[in-house]
Amino acid sequence: MKHAIRIAALISGSGTNLQAVIDACAAGRIDGDVVCVGTDNPNASGLERARRHGIPTFVVDYAAVIRRFREDPRSTAVPPDFDPPEIAARQNLLPPGTDAARVKFFLTTRAVAEADLLSALTAHRFDLLILAGFMRTLSPYFIDRVNSDPMRPRIMNIHPALLPAFPGTDGYADTFAYGCKVGGCTVHFVDYGEDSGPIIGQRAFAIQPEDTLEAVRKRGLAIEWALYPACIQLFAQKRLELERRCSQSGRDRWVVTIKPAAEDLKGA
Ligand code: GRF
Repeated sequence: MKHAIRIAALISGSGTNLQAVIDACAAGRIDGDVVCVGTDNPNASGLERARRHGIPTFVVDYAAVIRRFREDPRSTAVPPDFDPPEIAARQNLLPPGTDAARVKFFLTTRAVAEADLLSALTAHRFDLLILAGFMRTLSPYFIDRVNSDPMRPRIMNIHPALLPAFPGTDGYADTFAYGCKVGGCTVHFVDYGEDSGPIIGQRAFAIQPEDTLEAVRKRGLAIEWALYPACIQLFAQKRLELERRCSQSGRDRWVVTIKPAAEDLKGA
C-alpha cells in the first residue's frame, strides 16, 4: 500500500497553487493529503479554498507581530531558544554589512512569528511543508527546527522564474521587464537564502513579442499548477536526494538528484 504523506501549506494570497495540490491529492497524482493551511495574512482569500475542502487553517499575523515589537519590544515574548548571534551568523537573507540593529529586529520578529508557526504546524504532524505563494522568508530559526535532518530537507517553495535568475517577490515581472524570451518557474527546497535552495524541478515557456506581463503571468501560473504537484509526488515517492556538486568556480553546492521510479527499476 502507498504511504500518503501529510502536507502542510503556507499561503499569503489567492492560493491557486494550493488548489492545484489539493486537486492532485484528490486525483491520486500525489500520494498525500493537505492536512493544514497557514497564512501570515488574515485576509488571504486562499484560506477559503482550504475551508471548502475541510482542511484546518490558522493565521500567524506577521504584520501585527512586527508592529507590536516596534511599539513595545518588552511586551513581546521572544522564544527562549532563540539565539540572535547564532541565527545572524547563519542567515543569508540580509546582505553582509546590514546594520546590526536592523538584523536583530528582523531576526527577532521572524523568530517570534516562526515560533507560532511551528507550534501550529507541529500539531498537524506534517511530513512536507510547501510554500504556495507565501510572501515571507523563513529564517534559520524555523528552517532548522523543521529540517531536523539536514540531508532530508522538507520545506519546498515554488518560484515564478527560472532560478537562479530573478529571485525575489515578482519573478514574472522581473523576467518580462528584462526582455527575456523564455520564462518559467522553479520548485526548490528552502535554504537560508532567498530562493537559493537546491532545485527540484523547472519548466520553461516561450515569451512572444506580443505578450504582455499579464499574459506571461497567466502562462506561468498554469505551468506552476502542473510542476508543483509533480515535484511533491517525487518527494512522496522518496525519490529526491541531496548530493554535493563542485562547480567550475570551485564553489560547492548541494543539488537535488532524482532517483528513478520504482517501476523503472523493475527488471533492470
Ligand atoms: C505564484 O506565481 C507563486 O509562484 C508565487 O506567488 C504566486 C501566487 O500564487 N510564489 P498563488 O496563486 O497564491 O498560488
